[in-house]
Amino acid sequence: MSSSNVLGTGSTALVTGASRGIGALIAREIAEEGSHVVLTGRSAAELRAVASELAAAGADVSFVPADLTQPGAATSLVETVERQRGGIDLLVNNAGGDPLREFHAMTIDENLCTLQLNLVAPVALSHAVLGGMLRRGRGHIVNISAMAGRVSFPYTEVYAAAKDGVIGFTRVLRSDYRPRGVSASVLILGAIRDAGQGQRMLDESGMKASRFMAPAEAVARAVITAVKKDRAELVIMPGPGRLLRAVMDYFPGLGPAMNRAAGADTTMRKIIEMRDARENVPS
Ligand SMILES: NC(=O)c1ccc[n+]([C@@H]2O[C@H](COP(=O)([O-])OP(=O)(O)OC[C@H]3O[C@@H](n4cnc5c(N)ncnc54)[C@H](OP(=O)(O)O)[C@@H]3O)[C@@H](O)[C@H]2O)c1
Repeated sequence: MSSSNVLGTGSTALVTGASRGIGALIAREIAEEGSHVVLTGRSAAELRAVASELAAAGADVSFVPADLTQPGAATSLVETVERQRGGIDLLVNNAGGDPLREFHAMTIDENLCTLQLNLVAPVALSHAVLGGMLRRGRGHIVNISAMAGRVSFPYTEVYAAAKDGVIGFTRVLRSDYRPRGVSASVLILGAIRDAGQGQRMLDESGMKASRFMAPAEAVARAVITAVKKDRAELVIMPGPGRLLRAVMDYFPGLGPAMNRAAGADTTMRKIIEMRDARENVPS
């Protein structure tokens, strides 16, 4: 099945959003398996810094900068990597995020940019790598999604739509291409601490990590598990994550109630007001 030769010496992994946050840890974990890892993100300086750090620890690594919100970026990124490396065995669609501003306060183009980064780019990259993977008869695509939609996390309308879209996309992709040797997995992340957007929010607000946050390292390890064990979906959050997702689908009012009880509404409101004040955004 797909996990054979997808990781390890002689294989190539492309990790998006690898210039910082969770993606840099995913890249390190894959490199430790012996694969060559190609890092991508917009910032060449940050990619270079991560690549140097990984190389110093013995990793086989390179980087190609790309802005995945630009038309044609996914195709040309994959063409570049395939030219340089001969093929891509593992694609990790990790780049993503949310501006955490109110839906109505952003222009429709700003909202569509969130959709582009979190949904359209993973679809376009998967499409671009699939031809080569099918020709070689092996490959694995790991998509990073989020619990945001399921728990109605405040002020994430478009991000939630994109991340739920990624789950549906992965399910069908896996079902259609697994018989031909190319598999797909989706990781559904709750709030994550130690690296990435969640940790930055804590740092910004001066709050401490709650016990409901999983360490970023757990996401990196889960990518390896998803590939080696060919898992369809993994939920990364402390406690019974999969059960919580199912319960939320059954009782959709539970998410907002939990957010109110846990103080997420108030915290997010404060963060938005702090950012708006800093950027002089009219309310
Ligand atoms: N952290 C959490 O609590 C959490 C929870 C649930 C899900 N997730 C998901 O986990 C993934 C990683 O999140 P994170 O917290 O590590 O985020 P992060 O620290 O903000 O890192 C985001 C990465 O995406 C890249 N990126 C952003 N815009 C891009 C663009 N237009 N083109 C190409 N690359 C772009 C960034 O690099 P450049 O800025 O250099 O482009 C960076 O490497 C995301 O998909 C996120 O939605 C995170």
